[in-house]
Amino acid sequence: MRSTTTKLAIVGAGAVGSTLAYAALMRGTARTVALLDVNRQKVEAEVLDLQHGMMFIPPAEIVGSDDVEVCRGADVVVITAGAKQQPGQTRLDLAEATIGLTKKILPGLLDVAPDAIYIMVTNPVDIVTYAAQKISGLPRERVFGSGTVLDSSRLRAALALHCGVAVGNVHAYIAGEHGDSEIVLWSSATIGGVPLLEWKALPGRGELGETERAAIAHEVVDSAYRIIAGKGATNYAVGLASTRIIEAVLKNEHRVLTVSSRLDDYYGVTDVCLSVPSVVDRRGVPEVLRVPLSDAEIAGLTASAESMKAVQKRFGL
Ligand code: LAC
Repeated sequence: MRSTTTKLAIVGAGAVGSTLAYAALMRGTARTVALLDVNRQKVEAEVLDLQHGMMFIPPAEIVGSDDVEVCRGADVVVITAGAKQQPGQTRLDLAEATIGLTKKILPGLLDVAPDAIYIMVTNPVDIVTYAAQKISGLPRERVFGSGTVLDSSRLRAALALHCGVAVGNVHAYIAGEHGDSEIVLWSSATIGGVPLLEWKALPGRGELGETERAAIAHEVVDSAYRIIAGKGATNYAVGLASTRIIEAVLKNEHRVLTVSSRLDDYYGVTDVCLSVPSVVDRRGVPEVLRVPLSDAEIAGLTASAESMKAVQKRFGL
């Protein structure tokens, strides 16, 4: 009989990790939320600040430490620790630092949480996920990345605002790298059940022709750069996206999300971690969905894969 109390361990108490802890506590995602960070003073302060809000959230235990022991027995381990993307930097520029960090912290985590599902958020998340799978030796479905769940959320928000419909009625995915080579799966997108490519503007609202679609795609890919330039980091949406992924695991939701997992012959793409619509549940990512893709989308996914493989090769992965 599985324990009814679930434990979420978050590695890294920076902007993303602490926001993720806050979002998870607000939503009652896990019974215990543990924060781990090398900066003991910082992690203890984050825990204290969160604990002071306990009367306003569902019952939860909030703990934190600079000792990996605090993650013992976690059901889900989320890794947010890593180099911070500076204005003008791409996520791939962070690869060397974050691969090194992943190699350093994973063994200790596996000692205290050998049965956990591991979710990478640290960028470049597709490369870090591939590295974490190789380092951990865990089955591919138990180590995956937040991928383009955030990007798909950005796309859906932009489409909802542009078309004047609720975001819940927009079904559209970003696939590929969580980064500059990501692609919009326009051909399978729908709005209120209407194929997006057949969308007719509502009165006073935007059309979705080639020009408008290109502008929305650019807005999504450019989002992180704009936010980092303005406030130094992104945290809210990535914290919420990660919480949604964690809930799909802990509540065994079988939810379709564009998480990053190692693909094996997906339209010819293989041995690389990229995001495609996938089933997320207690097992991690047991299945990826073979969504119908246009020739252009297949070409875009292939190009994204080539970009990731070049980085994997550069760092000997
Ligand atoms: C972003 C970071 C999480 O896209 O890569 O906001």
